[in-house]
Amino acid sequence: MSQYHIPVMPHEVLQYLNVKRDAWYIDCNLGGGGHTELILQHGGRVLGIDLDRDAIQEVARKYKINLQIKNNHLVGNSSRLILYQSNFSQLSQITQIFHIHQIQGILFDLGVSSHQLEEASRGFSFNLNAPLDMRMDQQIGAKAEDLVNGLNEGELVKLFSKLGEEIFAKSIAKKIIEARKGQPITTTNQLAQIILSVRHRSATDPTHPATRVFQALRIAVNDELNSLQLALPQTVDLLVPGGRLVIISFHSLEDRIVKNFFKQEQRKGDLHILTEKPITPELAEIQANPRSHSGKLRAAEKTNTR
Ligand SMILES: C[S@@+](CC[C@H](N)C(=O)[O-])C[C@H]1O[C@@H](n2cnc3c(N)ncnc32)[C@H](O)[C@@H]1O
Repeated sequence: MSQYHIPVMPHEVLQYLNVKRDAWYIDCNLGGGGHTELILQHGGRVLGIDLDRDAIQEVARKYKINLQIKNNHLVGNSSRLILYQSNFSQLSQITQIFHIHQIQGILFDLGVSSHQLEEASRGFSFNLNAPLDMRMDQQIGAKAEDLVNGLNEGELVKLFSKLGEEIFAKSIAKKIIEARKGQPITTTNQLAQIILSVRHRSATDPTHPATRVFQALRIAVNDELNSLQLALPQTVDLLVPGGRLVIISFHSLEDRIVKNFFKQEQRKGDLHILTEKPITPELAEIQANPRSHSGKLRAAEKTNTR
């Protein structure tokens, strides 16, 4: 079986988290546990959160942790690692459940894992035919299919242009409305074909024409920007003075939210920005792991003045 996910910028994450022995860290995007493993290897303890049950189960298997379902959340722990299936927008509440108060570092590695993209049944990828789902938490919420068939033309245009920055949003929305008159659009292939009939593959641009629409749908289905906006203010209260906040984002909408939040907290005197410009992966990493190419890492330290 292929690797669940290759952690992005591992050295940079360790450098900026500055892991201290026996201190607590929160990995808000556990995924396959790649970053968590690095923190544990350097002597830290980790509270690992993920919306996706597959991620929690993958890491539980690796560390032989027994999982239980409590109040509809998958949960398990060993002496140095707690696993909890939830949205990181509930960060403060989650730390209270486990009585973790002195947090030395918080890591976000936003977006989707390779597992989610490569597991056809999840419906994240235009390369694999599957039902249009895209939910990270498969227990709740609307699927991509519900948005594609339920939104009106204006709403689709807004979604594709706002969350996908798709310049052909209008023509694609129009084609979707036409196509779904016959029968609902239920698979990734159907949607990709509709997009390809509007946006043809370009000889000069290797990006698949469906990339932006799929991105927009994924962000909307998982309410990704809102979750980030809700989580960020909680991090400052949770960190000890000198504690670190490290965030890797993969598109400009997320990076803008992080950049503005860091600036605002620095102005208030609560955070000190450690990365004037975002850190990006080295060429060797991009060659070895092409999915890392759009990663941007920003880091900040909680000041002593709060
Ligand atoms: C890029 S992967 C993380 C990979 C991980 N750092 C590793 O090294 O394996 C992103 C993960 O974040 C999860 N995720 C995305 N949004 C989330 C949210 N709001 N709350 C909790 N988990 C979320 C996804 O389900 C996915 O597993």
